[in-house]
Amino acid sequence: SDGGDGDDESSDGGDSQYGLSNGVVTVGSDIPYKPFEYRTEDGDLTGFDVKMAEAIYVDEMGLDYEFQPTAWDGIIPSLNNGNFRVIMSAMTINDERAEKVDFSEPYFTAYQTVVVIEGGDVSSKQDLEGKAVGVQKGTTGETAAEQLKEELGGNLEIQSYDQITGAFDALINNQVSAVVNDNTVNGEFVAEQDGVGFLEGEGAAEEAGQDAPPYLTLTVENYGIAFRQEDDEFNKAVNEALAAVKESGRYDEIYNEFFAG
Ligand code: ARG
Repeated sequence: SDGGDGDDESSDGGDSQYGLSNGVVTVGSDIPYKPFEYRTEDGDLTGFDVKMAEAIYVDEMGLDYEFQPTAWDGIIPSLNNGNFRVIMSAMTINDERAEKVDFSEPYFTAYQTVVVIEGGDVSSKQDLEGKAVGVQKGTTGETAAEQLKEELGGNLEIQSYDQITGAFDALINNQVSAVVNDNTVNGEFVAEQDGVGFLEGEGAAEEAGQDAPPYLTLTVENYGIAFRQEDDEFNKAVNEALAAVKESGRYDEIYNEFFAG
């Protein structure tokens, strides 16, 4: 195959463009994280990240892609060990991670949010004092919960689960009183599960002067695609493709597929 538009400097004959032996960009991702990466009832992989991978690698760069399900905890070492080429996994760009990987330009804004049992005994942050919250291990949700714990004078128990579904199950089974996690993923859970809802209030989004979602936000974050730090040339090419996806209207199409109505 010729990997697209013939960037001759980085290509010694098509197949090895960007150092890809077969033109396939391997993508490490922790699944499920609906609506970013999840399987349909038929078992097909889909989600915002999956469609973005298709738009960037296939439509813009003339390459192919393949998602490799990878545990979230350890996903960065796994990238750096060469198990796949990039991470696309609703990964928040932050300084700690940027010491170990490079990020693309931001492609999505997210907020840490709190989901609780509706009509239960938690209707404010303060009500969480002395209670337990569930998070996915190694996420910015875990970091936000640690911050909340500090605000509550240390009176908060944090239960960390390997996957976000573990935290959701714990809430339903009354093992924790709340889940701290990214807003859109919490939003899917709230939409699909009776009897749970967002903790309300004003927070980080309002403080940042942003058009705020109608629930409490603990942080404002941006997602990026993660690369090995020596993968500069590929990172740059992906950023160009990402910009083209945004400009062409394709980004909005994908956005509407997962976030409209
Ligand atoms: N945005 C959060 C973070 O970067 C959570 C991401 C979890 N992603 C996933 N696919 N499980 O820590």
